Amino acid sequence: MSFNLQAHKDKFPSDPRFGAGPSLIPVSFLEKLTATGAHLLGTSHRKPAVRNLVKGIQDDLRSYFKIPDDYKIILGNGGATFLFDMISFGLVEKKALHYTCGEFSDKWYKSSCVIPWTETDKKAAEYGKGITPKADDEYDLIACTLNETSTGVIVPEFPKVGEETLLTVDATSGGGQVPCDISQVDLYFFSPQKVFASEGGLYVAIMSPKAVKRAMKLHEESQNESEPRFIPHFMSWKTALDNGEKNQTYNTPSISTLFFLHEQMKEMEALGFNKVLELANLKAEHVYGWAEEKPYLSCYVEEKIYRSNAVATIDVDSKVDVSGIIKALEEEKVVYGIDAYRKLGRNQFRIALFHNISLEDLKKLTSLLSALIEEGL
Ligand SMILES: Cc1ncc(COP(=O)(O)O)c(C=O)c1O
Repeated sequence: MSFNLQAHKDKFPSDPRFGAGPSLIPVSFLEKLTATGAHLLGTSHRKPAVRNLVKGIQDDLRSYFKIPDDYKIILGNGGATFLFDMISFGLVEKKALHYTCGEFSDKWYKSSCVIPWTETDKKAAEYGKGITPKADDEYDLIACTLNETSTGVIVPEFPKVGEETLLTVDATSGGGQVPCDISQVDLYFFSPQKVFASEGGLYVAIMSPKAVKRAMKLHEESQNESEPRFIPHFMSWKTALDNGEKNQTYNTPSISTLFFLHEQMKEMEALGFNKVLELANLKAEHVYGWAEEKPYLSCYVEEKIYRSNAVATIDVDSKVDVSGIIKALEEEKVVYGIDAYRKLGRNQFRIALFHNISLEDLKKLTSLLSALIEEGL
């Protein structure tokens, strides 16, 4: 079916980007990057211009998340997917437990399963449902995904784990606006192309003293001459920690990615976590309220405590041609990226509520979608 989009011009959002990642990078950040001229891009990451950027990010993260002084903040190349393997090689001692509820948590679980010298178990929730992790001393590492981007499910509460267990959290699409007390977590990590409005390819890892101790213990085992534990050089936590101390990444980073992340951190830090959370919750209330009000919509995540304030998944009646609407909106450059996670195969809108996506634009988006759906029914 064809849609007369121009009849709804008054409902066009000011920015078309609502994708669950990569996310909206403000155009003002691009202008600021251009203004650095010949003095930033093309500079070595061992020189002050880039190291100051890394230090600025580390300092702002520490204050934004109220990270304890004895926690380390590391930046490196490869993103969250790279860290899945780095954790499996260098932090799991004998046995890991993964809580899964979608494609990304499952991917992390699978990356641990392939290591032959450790064991991996999982506790899985059906897609669209949530699961609350529990402490369990049988495991030396527990893996949770703060915001499962494929389904829009969050972890609402984390357990206090024992002294021999590391609690690790992939915060890629929720970090910054889904609540989580980092002082109770041993490894909190994310790629910055979601809430933090940067590009992909980078990881940020925040480590407790307990996680550093484990990393150093397994590093020692990798140096053992007779029976060394295998840890690839590029995945060495020791190297990453040493570079973090020097405000550097181990190998050459994308400087524009660091720049955008720093700009976003400055803005979020100026508002503070509580304000960012309040704004995110208002946007979530609006989108889920819309889904509850319209007879042809429903919230994919039924249990409210598991509904994300960072990525909303909204099921649509099978009579509605969701892919036709999305195609028309993309072709006219009005709205990008609101399709369901591809492997879910649902008649669904997945809408990011990331910090830079405004409530005003979400209101326009929902009224535009309602108008297009109602036209076709
Ligand atoms: C929850 C979660 N974990 C991990 C990843 C993978 O991140 P990257 O592509 O930066 O490796 C994503 C990407 O969307 C994600 O949403």
